[in-house]
Amino acid sequence: MKKELIKIIKKAGKILKKGYYSNKDVTFKAKKDLVTKYDVAVENYLKEKFTKKFKEFNIIAEESDNTNIEFNNSIIIDPIDGTTNFVNGVPHTAISLGVYKDKKPYLAIVYNPILDELYEAKIGKGAYLNGKQLKVSDETELQKALLATGFPYTSGSNEDDLNDVVKKIKDILPLCQDLRRLGSASIDLCLVARGTFEGYYEMNLKPWDVSAGVLILSEAGGKITNINGEEYNLFEDKYIVATNGKIHDELIKNLNLL
Ligand code: IPD
Ligand code: CA
Ligand code: CA
Repeated sequence: MKKELIKIIKKAGKILKKGYYSNKDVTFKAKKDLVTKYDVAVENYLKEKFTKKFKEFNIIAEESDNTNIEFNNSIIIDPIDGTTNFVNGVPHTAISLGVYKDKKPYLAIVYNPILDELYEAKIGKGAYLNGKQLKVSDETELQKALLATGFPYTSGSNEDDLNDVVKKIKDILPLCQDLRRLGSASIDLCLVARGTFEGYYEMNLKPWDVSAGVLILSEAGGKITNINGEEYNLFEDKYIVATNGKIHDELIKNLNLL
């Protein structure tokens, strides 16, 4: 299945890449949340191929109506993760897809066609970037850790969320090496898997933002939890905390300061 998925995602990557270098009309789903015809085109392409080839899986996808789809044996798709980057010409943008069997991660692919970087993982078989095996960083000190985060679209409308983002930056920034905001949750998780970042946290993510990245990171030796240090639930948790495992407890502790 993985080989076929990669073949399909590479073709879909051509649609993304063409869009990246073209003029784009932008539609706003919410004040900060935008979508282009390319998000829809990539998603439709993937859905058409997957429904034909992988009949035993249903599809949960960002730009589709998922109300009557039960999560179980599912392919969860983000056609363009990092749409704001895509629109503005920042090369951190990717197609992300996670394959789940009985609600458990089975296969994952994150493909950035602009940088030609393909991250993939299969449960129990390790994580790879363009064929090279990935391993998280060995750093154990939070003070030396390069972290990443993201800002939720709700920061434009929900004051509690905005205050929480700012508080956490105020608490965490002095305690780490530095903090990055690259604008693609799927790639952020892959960069922890790659050892570029030691950790990452963000609020209000959707299942398609992280469905692939969580498997890629855990297969590279990382740890993913909610903000209480418990198993992360794709559909229910407000916060994701993802690290190399070695700074996890200290990061969790400092994300929970009163
Ligand atoms: C967004 C990106 C971004 C994160 C947002 C996501 P989108 O996904 O992953 O990094 O901060 O919360 O919604 O909208 O570009 O697919
Ligand atoms: Ca996304
Ligand atoms: Ca998206």
